Amino acid sequence: MTDFLPLKRIDYIEFYCGNAKQSAMYYQHGFGFKLTGYSGLETKNSASASYLLEQGKIRFVLTSSYSDNTFISEHVKKHGDGVFDIAFEVDDAAKSFEETVKRGAVPFLEPVKIEDENGYVVKSAIRTFGDTIHTFIERKNYKGLFLPGFIDASNRAPAGIKDTGLRSVDHMVGNVELGKMMHWVKFYADTMGFNQLLSFDDKDISTEYTALMSKVMQNSTGKIKMPINEPAPGKKKSQIEEYLDFYKSPGIQHIALTTPDILTTVAELKNRGIEFLTVPKTYYEDLISRVGKIDEDVKELEGTGILVDRDDDGYLLQIFSKPVEDRPTLFFEIIQRKGARSFGKGNFKALFESIEREQELRGTL
Ligand code: FE2
Repeated sequence: MTDFLPLKRIDYIEFYCGNAKQSAMYYQHGFGFKLTGYSGLETKNSASASYLLEQGKIRFVLTSSYSDNTFISEHVKKHGDGVFDIAFEVDDAAKSFEETVKRGAVPFLEPVKIEDENGYVVKSAIRTFGDTIHTFIERKNYKGLFLPGFIDASNRAPAGIKDTGLRSVDHMVGNVELGKMMHWVKFYADTMGFNQLLSFDDKDISTEYTALMSKVMQNSTGKIKMPINEPAPGKKKSQIEEYLDFYKSPGIQHIALTTPDILTTVAELKNRGIEFLTVPKTYYEDLISRVGKIDEDVKELEGTGILVDRDDDGYLLQIFSKPVEDRPTLFFEIIQRKGARSFGKGNFKALFESIEREQELRGTL
């Protein structure tokens, strides 16, 4: 079957923020992103300020509104800072819109041509869970830096910030309400042509207190992976429910970023103040008997708090940040894959117990 929605790559991820200028500093100093582009009053954009940040193949756009009662400011008022748009590069943005809307997608932006002296892009967008959207970007006729309206901002980047080795987006996870996972799994399958890679139920992902269910959807090339979580009934409030309570709707829970050297990357991120979840020492005591032989030194992994899991194809190393907002909503995963194509199922229990300890401190368990 031919793919009716060939997605070339994740073009960018856009965050709506209360103060994009300051958030941009956090991602530069903390995560090692480089400021490369800017749009705002100085570029005749009187509606919003946007900062384009890049590292490896990853592109983040941080956007704030200049005014109240705007779409952006209402989004921030309701959700706090968070992911608004996961944009995909496509060959034909009009066709992408037509094919998905024909299959039930709710339109957000009809195809529109935007141009400047560097050529033009065509943009269109559809809604996904909560107030999140997917934009389709057709940029084959555009030679500029990023998008029309953006200017080179590399001269505004602070001096001396080195990257932290982050290379690409591995996957992006959505949290949806209880009973809604299948609805969104069907959306990604029927409307966007994704297929299901993996499935976890509450027997895989549960602790004494909390549980969740998850299905991993991927596009036809397998390059774009979007797990969808829903809470499962447990004795106490699950991390998914906590997210939904604070984000006030479904939304993006975490973004996993790849590195070719997780020990160096995480040590660097910690030096810069990025906070990570920790697991008890006991996790490392029987690590090798659980995952088999690995290249890394267990003591070093323990020192940094990195988790390991193995599947039929190899193993992976991963670690999870604490939420990057005051609301316990979005967080990041840092992942290094050594063959493994799965998501660290063997770490779910240790990880969720770690999140529960954080919830306990927040009084939200
Ligand atoms: Fe993940």
